[in-house]
Amino acid sequence: AADGPLKGRRVLVTAGPTMEPIDPVRYIANRSSGKQGYAIAAALRNLGAEVVMVTGPTGIPAPAGVKAVRVETARQMMAAVEKELPVDCAVMCAAVADYRPEIETEHKIKKERGGLTNIPLAENPDILRTVAQMKTGRPALVVGFAAETDDIIGHAEAKRRRKGCDWIVANDVSMGAHCAMGRDFNAVTILSDDGEESWPEMPKAEVARRLARKIADALAAPRPA
Ligand code: C5P
Repeated sequence: AADGPLKGRRVLVTAGPTMEPIDPVRYIANRSSGKQGYAIAAALRNLGAEVVMVTGPTGIPAPAGVKAVRVETARQMMAAVEKELPVDCAVMCAAVADYRPEIETEHKIKKERGGLTNIPLAENPDILRTVAQMKTGRPALVVGFAAETDDIIGHAEAKRRRKGCDWIVANDVSMGAHCAMGRDFNAVTILSDDGEESWPEMPKAEVARRLARKIADALAAPRPA
């Protein structure tokens, strides 16, 4: 393992989208390239951490030195995350589908036979919330992400409280020049008990390096009583 401030620390990262099958050929998913999550996993490992990345389907290879656990659905991601605990820090970047089709059919749904005009949905587990609210064995630092289109800080702070995570990394996904989705650049604001910190637009790899350093500093600091 690389030497660095995170040596001896175990960190979990979720990344990519989840895919929720409707039938053998169709699925529901969120938009996510996985780029930011993979970059964060690489940056944490470059600071010496033992990194496990639980990832939904993406087109990018796992960073060297990172253990990648590949899953498709939110329920598989939840189970894989639980299996990898305990960790010192969890960074939840995955764009988890909030809902899945209630029943997955074994056969392709045919348009000719009435087709697909109504898909009953069931709610998926909230992985971030589950980990952040663990009564025993909670990671010392739990970081969530928020993709917002308006009142970014307001919504992200509400999300931080609702989920019970320590930090929320918020980005603006409204359409336009600054939309982070699929791009190599990102502008984020980090919300914590210490207030908010906004970083200018920079490459996702640089956001990852800065975030990894901030995580290393937080884990090294004495915990508040
Ligand atoms: O509620 P929302 O999906 O906007 O929250 C985003 C944050 O919650 C991200 O960190 C995402 O990885 C996490 N999340 C999760 N499980 C879900 C939904 C979101 O871990 N089912």
